[in-house]
Amino acid sequence: MPATSWPGRILEQLRGVNPFGGDSLPSRVPVFASGRPTLPFPHPWNYREPIRIFETFWCGAEKETGAGRHNRYLYVGGFPPVLLSRDPAIIKAVLGATGEKPGQFDRDTAPTAGIARATGEDSLLYANGAVWRRQKSLAAEPFSRSSLFQPEQFHGFEQTFRRTVAERLEVLRARQKATGQTVTRLALEPEIKVVMLEMLVNNFFGGTVDERELRERFVPSLDGLIAHMVSDTIAPRMMAVAGLLTGRRGLLKRRKADFEALVDIALAGRAKGLGLWQQFHSEAPDAALRSNLRVFLAGAMEATSSFASWAISHLARRPDIQEQIFAEVKDLETYDPDSLTHALALNRVLEETVRLTPALYFLPRRATVDTWIETTDHRRMLIPKGAHVCLDVWHANRCEEFWGAAVTGYPAGDFAPERWEFLARKGLTPKDMLHFGFGYGPRFCPGRFLGLLEVGLVVGAMVKLFRFTAVGEPAGVRAGVSTKPADGVLVDLELRA
Ligand code: HEM
Repeated sequence: MPATSWPGRILEQLRGVNPFGGDSLPSRVPVFASGRPTLPFPHPWNYREPIRIFETFWCGAEKETGAGRHNRYLYVGGFPPVLLSRDPAIIKAVLGATGEKPGQFDRDTAPTAGIARATGEDSLLYANGAVWRRQKSLAAEPFSRSSLFQPEQFHGFEQTFRRTVAERLEVLRARQKATGQTVTRLALEPEIKVVMLEMLVNNFFGGTVDERELRERFVPSLDGLIAHMVSDTIAPRMMAVAGLLTGRRGLLKRRKADFEALVDIALAGRAKGLGLWQQFHSEAPDAALRSNLRVFLAGAMEATSSFASWAISHLARRPDIQEQIFAEVKDLETYDPDSLTHALALNRVLEETVRLTPALYFLPRRATVDTWIETTDHRRMLIPKGAHVCLDVWHANRCEEFWGAAVTGYPAGDFAPERWEFLARKGLTPKDMLHFGFGYGPRFCPGRFLGLLEVGLVVGAMVKLFRFTAVGEPAGVRAGVSTKPADGVLVDLELRA
């Protein structure tokens, strides 16, 4: 029986007892060891580099045999154990056993405490148990494939995008004319965020915010708030003191007011049944929807911007694939559900992007009771009550054993959309090769179709209008709430004829 009290855990920790059980035992990560990237837990000096923290867990794991090679745990200070897994079978088993039923895993709220303070605790993302289940069923209809993949709905998204792009093109043309240059160096991430938020607010929620206000007011405010949510999770007291000392409390207050104004705009269409509100059937008063709207607005901007930024960043190093996608989209006058579904090269790029560089790099869970999980190949693990379970999707998808040349035809760490062709020849589809880019099981992403639609449109249209080339060496990853290319998607942009 694993210990549940503080003194009991201390005793186990001193004795080196493994609190997990079964034939799939994780191996222990020492707190201090030389030669590692950082300490194996977040603190105020390393929390901006969460992927390095996870890397620390995997240092020395290659010496392990058995389950301990891909499943490791930290057990210190009388705290409950933290399990980190990069084993796709274990990840799948835990995600499949998550839900509101007694004995199922909760979504661990510890890594998102700062998000909950800014958005509310009763949102679909943060809540567990019956509250989560209720939120989930409410969101099902408007986010469904059948609601979103309507030609008329698509057309709205496309129009928004075209309008924004036309305006930005004018700015670009004017700049090129003024400088006499045909190539412009630009960090695309801020542009991508504006387009993503615009599609969400104006098309999905039927709002009417103009592009300039999104660019100058709402995107910077949301960006600032999202950065605050991350720091506020790790070091809330330090953030409060820093706010007082630096006078940044006023700025934070203004950003929160902007966030509320954006929620008001998104809600305004409800009474008139604008956008996807017409698919939303609930008697709940507007006030009861605000937490979810905050999560959808901030979360969706963050996740779709991450996805589109990575896709463009990867393509900027693969001019050959840009040309393949160009051949697919050059004659498309309107994007409709059918044309986007049949754009094979584009879809492989999207699949590979979300595999190699998932927006959400880990999925947090918490054991509500002592829980046995079983993988599809019949390996079993006992996870003790209270254990924090970090499903390290980032490293699972980069592990040679699961995604390397022997399995998929290409090295795991390479951006290779061709691997999906190789797998297809072996009769394997993305459904057989779980990369968890949108999660798995009951807490699977409800925004998947919306995200794919938006990102497909943006990437398709980018390739149709421009050739773009990455500047310098691959810049690495920046990770907060989601991951992004560290260089802000810096590219040389050239208009196609
Ligand atoms: C296109 C980029 C997107 C990616 C890569 C993405 C990824 C994910 C992933 C991996 C999860 C599972 C989290 C977990 O299991 O702990 C998730 C959940 C969620 N996503 Fe997304 N997402 C995207 C877009 C969106 C959009 C556009 C929305 C809403 C407008 C959204 C709303 C949510 C919500 C509310 C959850 C929580 C669901 C639950 O706990 O039941 N996502 N997302």
